Amino acid sequence: MFKFSFGTEIIAGDHVLDNIGKNALQYGKRALIVTDKGVRQHGLLEPIERSLQDAGIEYFIFDEVVSNPTIQNVQESYRFFQQHQCDFIIGVGGGSPLDTAKSVAVVATNGGSIADYEGSNLVQNPVLPVLTVPSTVGTGAEVTCATVISDPTRNFKFVVFSDKMYPTQAYLDPRMVENLPAPLCGATGMDALTHALESYISRGANPITDSMAIHVIGMIGRYLRPAVAGDREARFQMLVASCMAGIVDVAAGLGLVHALANTMGGYFPVHHGVANAILLPHVMKFNLIANPKKFTDIAVALGEKVDGLSEREAAELAVKAVQKLSLDVGIPNNLREVGITDDMIPQMAKDSLSAIDRPPNPRVNSLADLEALYRVAFDYQP
Ligand SMILES: [Fe+2]
Repeated sequence: MFKFSFGTEIIAGDHVLDNIGKNALQYGKRALIVTDKGVRQHGLLEPIERSLQDAGIEYFIFDEVVSNPTIQNVQESYRFFQQHQCDFIIGVGGGSPLDTAKSVAVVATNGGSIADYEGSNLVQNPVLPVLTVPSTVGTGAEVTCATVISDPTRNFKFVVFSDKMYPTQAYLDPRMVENLPAPLCGATGMDALTHALESYISRGANPITDSMAIHVIGMIGRYLRPAVAGDREARFQMLVASCMAGIVDVAAGLGLVHALANTMGGYFPVHHGVANAILLPHVMKFNLIANPKKFTDIAVALGEKVDGLSEREAAELAVKAVQKLSLDVGIPNNLREVGITDDMIPQMAKDSLSAIDRPPNPRVNSLADLEALYRVAFDYQP
């Protein structure tokens, strides 16, 4: 048995943001824009503001979202929302602003704190309309019915997941990613690859998610390198690929890469995409025996030649292909290089046991396995 549902309208292409104001009139006349200072300073709000002004929509900008937003940060954003009595929310930026926007939409109609809804389907009331505008090529947060929020009191990033949380509309406009710095393009693109890849081998995969996930892996294999190099069309294709990866990851579930990376993110300020990319080949090696056929599919999708190879040899090429891609787009070799200290590994492994992304992983795993995965990624040299 499987089910597949999806709740976001996707509007993609050149200058689609020119219509966001006209489209948003159905949600009200007062908008809260949730973003961060970087997005605002780079002028990325301009087409949105112009379109809202043309449509006669009043808007209020909350630009205080921090990276890895906390419960407190969501509350601040919600207070700003209340002060201005907004009708709907527009989230603009990477995963942090988009997740904050979705969190405010939950709290606005359900009360309390976003922490009250940790886990699956605890959100009771319909949430406010949320329009999302991604400015990176990775999180897929523009279409996921989930939000990842940090709780500093327990060094833990928790997930709120609810089918009531699908954003109403997602706008994929190439202007938003044309000036994305190359390292961020590489890191967020590797996050998207991790979403598609973990979804493809997940225990929760089904024929619908499989068909999209393997296609997305192929798109990323083809477009991530030229996107990092600055090719505009490749960047737009990555924007589409990361959005599709978001659709499949909530439907199929993720795995140990995200479980370990999110736990690490609770202790160290490492970029989520970088953390995933460093861990990914090591978790792939661990998971490979669970489904070598699917790993072979991944190798082929990433352009590897598998003719004449045994299934095991072909499957191993998937790991090599991912390592080559990581190297090409500038991902550091190991966790030590991004400031992780190995004294925290036992605690992080323990915390990862309860991560929401662990159960869908295709291979059963123990505390010792989780610790070993952190250790192999800690000082790996290619
Ligand atoms: Fe991710």
